[in-house]
This record gives sequence, C-alpha cells and structure tokens, in this order.
Amino acid sequence: QTTDTKSLATMSFKGVEASTGDKIIVPEGYSYQVISRWGDPLFANSPKWKGDATEDSAAQALQVGDNHDGMTFFPIDGKADEGLLVRNHEYINPAYIFPKGVEVAGEGWNADWVKKSQRAQGVSVVHIRLDNGKKWQSVLDSRYNRSINAHDTEMVIVGPAAGEDLMKTHADPTGTVVYGTFGNCGNGFTPWNTYLTCEENVTDYFGTTKEGVKADMHMQRYGVSSKASDGDYRWELFDKRFDVVEEPNEWNRHGWIVEIDPFDPQSKPKKLTALGHFKHENAAFAVSNDGHVVIYMGDDQRSEYIYKFVSKNKYDANNQAANRDLLNEGTLYVAQFLDGATKGDLKGEGKWIALTLDTVGVDGKKLAEHFKTQGELLVKTRQAADLVGATPMDRPEWVAVHPQTKEVYVTLTNNSDRGSDKERKGMGGVKHPGVDDANPRVKNPYGQIVRWNEQDTDAAALSFTWDVYLLVGNPSIHPEGNLMAGTANMTSKNLFNSPDGLAFDKDGRIWIQTDGNFSNTGAYEGMGNNQMLVAVPQTGSTEGEIRRFMVGPSGCEITGITFTPDQKFVFVNIQHPGEYGKHPRAPKEVNPQDQPLAFSQWPMGDNEDTENSGGRPRAATVVIWRDDGGIVGA
Ligand code: FEO
Ligand code: CA
Ligand code: CA
Ligand code: CA
Repeated sequence: QTTDTKSLATMSFKGVEASTGDKIIVPEGYSYQVISRWGDPLFANSPKWKGDATEDSAAQALQVGDNHDGMTFFPIDGKADEGLLVRNHEYINPAYIFPKGVEVAGEGWNADWVKKSQRAQGVSVVHIRLDNGKKWQSVLDSRYNRSINAHDTEMVIVGPAAGEDLMKTHADPTGTVVYGTFGNCGNGFTPWNTYLTCEENVTDYFGTTKEGVKADMHMQRYGVSSKASDGDYRWELFDKRFDVVEEPNEWNRHGWIVEIDPFDPQSKPKKLTALGHFKHENAAFAVSNDGHVVIYMGDDQRSEYIYKFVSKNKYDANNQAANRDLLNEGTLYVAQFLDGATKGDLKGEGKWIALTLDTVGVDGKKLAEHFKTQGELLVKTRQAADLVGATPMDRPEWVAVHPQTKEVYVTLTNNSDRGSDKERKGMGGVKHPGVDDANPRVKNPYGQIVRWNEQDTDAAALSFTWDVYLLVGNPSIHPEGNLMAGTANMTSKNLFNSPDGLAFDKDGRIWIQTDGNFSNTGAYEGMGNNQMLVAVPQTGSTEGEIRRFMVGPSGCEITGITFTPDQKFVFVNIQHPGEYGKHPRAPKEVNPQDQPLAFSQWPMGDNEDTENSGGRPRAATVVIWRDDGGIVGA
C-alpha cells in the first residue's frame, strides 16, 4: 500500500546557525536578492515608495501590498526566467502602514486609512523576469500586473452556497457577487494555471459600533465579534459592510478559497464554496487514482480540523481548458485521526467523513436535520464537522503532497489550548480535548508534522494510515525521551518551533517554514529567529536530517514558497519583519532577559538594499540561488 521509495533527492548544503540578527542568512555558496517589497511600484505609473507611509489609498492601489504570504511562480511559455509571481498579502501592521507610526498607531483612524488597509490586502500579480543573469526585475508595463484586493475587485460566488440566504446582503440580494478578498494566508495552484488564495482570519475584520449586540451561535463558532473588530483593522468604523449589525451576512462571504486566473487580467476571481467555509490555510492539489481532483486543506485555529475536497467530475490532463470548473462541484470530507491498536506510539488510522446532508452524525441524526440545504451546511462547515466527530488538531497549517510517494504532510503549528478546560463556543461546542497520538502534548508549545498514506495510495480514499513524522521539541533543554524534547530528527543543530509553511519540491525535498516564538529564551532557547529548513523524508521513518537552510530577520515569519521550473531559484516571503506582538517598539516585553531584539528596519541595510525605509520594516519576497547555478537545496 505504501510505496517506500528512498527518494533520489540529495541535500548537500551546509546548514546555517540560528540567529537573532536583522538580516537574511543563507548557506555558503548561496546568494539572494530582495524583490517586490510592500509599497514598491506595481505598474509603470505607480508612485514611488515615500518611506514615511503618507501614501494614500489611491497610491496603495498602485503599489505592492503588505505582509506577503503564499505564492506561486507561473512560468510564461514554460520559461524558467520569466513568469507571473502571484502572491498573497495577508494583513497589515497599522504601526507601519499608517504615517503616525509606532508610537501612536491607533490615533487618527480615518476612512482613507481603512481603504488603504483594504487595498494593501489580497493578491498581487507581478510579471517578473531574470535580467542579466541573476537579477530579477518586475516588468512594470506588463498587461498582467494586477492588484486583487479587499476593496476593488469584483468576484463571483460559485458552488452549493452561491445564492444561499446566508450569503445575501443589501448590496447583493442574489448572494452571488462579492467585493474583495483579505486575510489571504497560504495558497495552492492547479495544472490549469489558476491560483488558489486561501482566506484565513477573516473574522478579525468584522464587528460593530452598536452597543449591546449578542453574537449568535454561528458567529460564536467562528469567532465573529459582537463588539469592535480587531484593533488592527476597525473597518466597520468607516465601511458599513463590515458592521455585523448593518450586514449580518457579509462575513459568511469570506473565509473561502478563491480561484484566480492570473493570465487573464479581466477575469473575475471565483469564491469556491464547495471547498468549505473556515479559516483556510492553504490548498494542496492531488489527483485520485480514477482522475478526480483532490484538494487538501487545514482550518488554522486551535483544535480545528483537516479537510479534503474531491471533485465530482474528472480531471483531463490533455485538455486543461476543460478543467476550469472542476472545483465548483464535489464532496467535502473532514478527517478523523484515530489512535489505532496501540496508544502512545504516535501513529494510527484515519477516516474521511463526507459532509453531506445524508451523513449520520454522532447524535444519530442525519445532517439534513441540522441544515436545510447543502449550501447552508457549507456556510456552517465547522458545525457540520463537529456533528460528525472530526478530530480536533493542533492548529492545522499547510498541507503538502509528496510528488513521488503521494504521502500527505501537514504542519500542526502549536496549540496552547490542548488539554485545557476551555470550552469552544457555538453549536456543537466542545471542550478543547485531551491529548491523543496525533496531538500528544498538553499546551503544545512547539508543533508537529503529521503525515498520512491514503488507502491504495488513492487521494480519494475514505481511510488512511498516519504517523508523526516530526514532533518539534527542544532536546537542548528537555531530557531525552520526554515528548517536549521532540522526535529523534530534532537535534541541537536544527532547533526551531511552530512549523507553518510547507512544500515539496519536484525531487521530494520537503521545505519547512516557521512562524513561532523567536524570543530565543526559555522553552525556545537556541531557536533564534523564524527560519526555513529542508529534509528528505522517508516514508514510515523519522530518519533523515532536517537541516536549517535559512534564517529571517528580526520579528518576521518566513512563509510562501515557489520555485522556477528548473529549480535553480526558490522564492520565499518575509512576512511581518519587526512584529513584536502588539508592541512593535517594545522588544523588552518579548525578551525581558537580555539582549533586546533589534528594532527591525529590514530590508534596509541588508544585502544591497539602501532605500530609506523611514524606520519601517517592509515585507518582501526573497529569491535565493546557488552561485554555481545548481538546484537549490540539492
Ligand atoms: Fe496565516 Fe495560519 O497562518
Ligand atoms: Ca497509536
Ligand atoms: Ca501560515
Ligand atoms: Ca501562522
């Protein structure tokens, strides 16, 4: 059933040391370039970055968005040196994006700031080209360049929830048209050259200015506020559609996966309701043994679930144009991870349970008794998954499929609520569960990577076997054998925490990116800044070194990864450099012990970047290559 291939992938770079500095570190024999920073021109007529964040919303619409996350390089005509870099802009840091700056971030909130915030989030399409050998440039006069953002871009809603009552608003009584996308976290892509952007923490953007409002069960289950929205956004102050009293259904129209055709700048992105409504992390593509498309997905919140979608119709590898509506229709499944015959061995079996009206839940009733239509069920995906007894996981982040073995890997980043008595609110509310083999640690501070093999290596199978590939830990401070020390593939040389971004390259190397605690003290001692690691995993074994490939600047996370087709260049994103909790200037609160972390001004001063950032760190893409022109990571 499992194809145990000793992967042919090699890994010969020398691992880099942990670091707490404010620059990028890559292995010996590698170089990098910073491209496409927040605020850089997107078009030939874009205003130049000013450095003091006094750009208004009109300028932001013409500039690269903020806090880059998932991304895909789409080659133009199969070329390795020219293509479309399509990239998520997940959120904003008000302290940096508004001119008041870090000392008085909340002061002066106004309508144009809200519009600027909306236009800095979403997806950008940037035509890029490798000029004179090793410098990547944005082609600013390209017809493809586009800002798909939370304010300006009209989208269509497709799939079973399109036209549902819960999807209707004053502006859209049909429930089929919506403006914008935001909270764009991880991503996916299809062989028919479309990009999948995943809407994650969309509930943070909704709230109300009215007093005494009570959140209903549905809002509670997703965490929509009946008070003010997150202080970083406060969109409801100046844009009524984000006020949950004015527009109680608007939030249901966000939290989906959106399919974008980057090669048609006039195309309307599609919100794919068949793939479920939750805090989507990424979308990993596979094809089943009999030709159905499968998309694996995580819902990134504490003790949420792992899902997969199986298309109704079949994929045609010889006619990509015929595949364009495959994600409109199909079946959504949620995963159960069972401990199996032996408890405590960090492996077991699993099942996929269909989220359809006919499925019988743990209460013995068909889901049809809880939801009137499949559309309503999908809008309330989390409640449907609760009702069928899905397994709560330690914050499912990215999923990646091994290109040769088809084994599926997922990062579970951490879960401070694991094993607590905190009750999750909403219909089907449950206590945060105790430990199990897939989520074996109370208040899990480090995260783990779990992987599974579908029965008969068939992506559409209804059962699987799974094991923990990597239990992240700190073997330098916890005794051997203690679960907090991690599995044997954690060593004093590769210390890190909170795996998040995850992808395989074509050869079967796995690239692991982190978004965790970078205090470098206590439980996290020796881990340094967030980073990216590489490994060649073997099925059914935790053997094989996991080696640190890169360290990011202070306060950042590293996320998003894509390669040129010849694998000579890897692109990754530096998200939120200089983000020290809610206190961008107060690193001592993050790291009270000693050596206050630098106040990041990255990328200013790193590599060849001399553009004055006005003291503001800027999210950006980093492209890394081998000086000898070889395959990266090999
Ligand atoms: Fe946007 Fe779950 O990270
Ligand atoms: Ca077990
Ligand atoms: Ca993430
Ligand atoms: Ca994350």
